[in-house]
Amino acid sequence: MHEQINHPCVQHKLAIIRDVETGHKRFRELSTEITKFLCYEALKNIKMKEVEVQTPLAMASCRKIDTDIVVVPILRAGIGMLEGILELVPTARVGFVGLYRDEKTKQAVSYYERFPPQTHGGTCIIIDPMLATGGSTIATIDKLKAAGAGQIVVICIVTCQEGLSLVEAAHPDVPVYTASIDQELDERKYIVPGLGDAGDRLFGTSH
Ligand code: PRP
Ligand code: URA
Repeated sequence: MHEQINHPCVQHKLAIIRDVETGHKRFRELSTEITKFLCYEALKNIKMKEVEVQTPLAMASCRKIDTDIVVVPILRAGIGMLEGILELVPTARVGFVGLYRDEKTKQAVSYYERFPPQTHGGTCIIIDPMLATGGSTIATIDKLKAAGAGQIVVICIVTCQEGLSLVEAAHPDVPVYTASIDQELDERKYIVPGLGDAGDRLFGTSH
């Protein structure tokens, strides 16, 4: 399952974050802003419980979130989306997966992994701005399932059909929420039109 969030506020910000003229300060702010909208949608099916609340006037039947939430940024670019999730879910715990794409093979190479104990049985939100070939996302879902994660959802800012199809084939139970499903991958496995190298644009490491 995947969902592209077409809300005008998301699409307007996406247009600005894609722009080659947008510098790293604004790029970071937009990552946070877009992530908040995507997270709002991605959490719409999480586990809830019925509770009774005493208002100043009477008892009210209410619902509260009934699951631990663990957000997992894929290093490095996933860090750029962390603030947006934590603004929406301040009590979320944070796990980390370190992966980089080997420039020659384009395969995801794992170099770091640390999850809080609540990963076991918890609701895990994987964040990475770019889901390109899908290799990094699949490897992260594999790790979270091995750690006993309950529900898993993926939030990315931009993806493409090729990577999305691979993730859905490997993990049909994991929904992906995105602002855009772009046309294709180029020969370097960059998403086109995409937004370029997300890590470099976030952290100002390109020039
Ligand atoms: C980028 C991006 C994703 C990955 C996507 O990371 O942030 O993690 O590539 O590609 P895939 O879907 O083909 O696996 P990169 O390797 O550039 O590392 P960085 O985040 O450290 O810049
Ligand atoms: N990583 C990025 O940062 N951008 C892409 O388009 C693909 C992978």
